[in-house]
Amino acid sequence: MESKRVALVTGANKGIGLAIAQGLAANGLVVLVGSRVLEKGVKAASGIGPLAHGIQLDVTDGASITAAVDRIRSGFGRLDVLVNNAGISHAGRPGMTFPEIMKTNALTSAPLEDIRTVWDTNVFGLIAVTQAVLPLLREAPAARIVTIGSSGGSLGWNSAPSNEHRRMYGNYSSSKSAAHAATLAFAFSLEDTRIKVNIACPGHTATALNNFSGARTVGQGARRAIELALLDDDGPTGTFSDEAGPIVW
Ligand SMILES: NC(=O)c1ccc[n+]([C@@H]2O[C@H](COP(=O)([O-])OP(=O)(O)OC[C@H]3O[C@@H](n4cnc5c(N)ncnc54)[C@H](OP(=O)(O)O)[C@@H]3O)[C@@H](O)[C@H]2O)c1
Repeated sequence: MESKRVALVTGANKGIGLAIAQGLAANGLVVLVGSRVLEKGVKAASGIGPLAHGIQLDVTDGASITAAVDRIRSGFGRLDVLVNNAGISHAGRPGMTFPEIMKTNALTSAPLEDIRTVWDTNVFGLIAVTQAVLPLLREAPAARIVTIGSSGGSLGWNSAPSNEHRRMYGNYSSSKSAAHAATLAFAFSLEDTRIKVNIACPGHTATALNNFSGARTVGQGARRAIELALLDDDGPTGTFSDEAGPIVW
């Protein structure tokens, strides 16, 4: 069995997930760089260093999840940290114009198929991966689950009429609200275990998800998630925060 703590980061071949993987390896953890295209995960891992390993993982594919869990058990014998990072912002397909993509965001106009696509990754993928790795996390001495959430999915903020961003609250943001709710449900169910479950908001970060419009770097976006992945036993569970502190649900 691996003697170091082992972390799995979903969607870690690029963006905030890659920066989280880098940060966890810098803290001495063995890091499994989840990637739906294995070669991209292997390449990203080789850029991080010897503590990182690429692992094929499509969070919407049950067979891929099962194979990844088998590989973790047989290759490492433990899992201490799960970071639910994989996410998509829209169901747009190559060649679509920006206005066409926006129609896949407003629930008033989005085809149900496009809503399912986003929720499959951002919500059901998170639930499926978390369920699948729970037996390993339960065996770990002090496991941590971190979901990458979004203040844009805060129901409290969006319900305030003064919040001008609420017009953007659609398919993506509501999927993040659902991801927060699902993560909180895991936290409640695991309250009497050693597993701590928390949500980190990275802030508006420049990645492919938003066509690199964010103001923050991926290193900044990864910071709160890394802190929550490395919480000691006195740390909280069932929280939603960014670097500045708690975020309203
Ligand atoms: N950027 C922001 O401002 C911001 C703000 C708040 C929250 N977030 C959250 O941060 C997380 C990371 O996003 P990012 O900004 O870093 O975007 P990104 O650069 O587009 O990275 C998204 C990652 O998720 C992966 N992914 C997508 N679908 C997947 C699937 N079915 N299975 C496995 N991996 C999958 C992507 O893989 P491929 O390379 O194969 O596509 C990629 O590695 C997301 O949960 C997002 O909602 C981002």
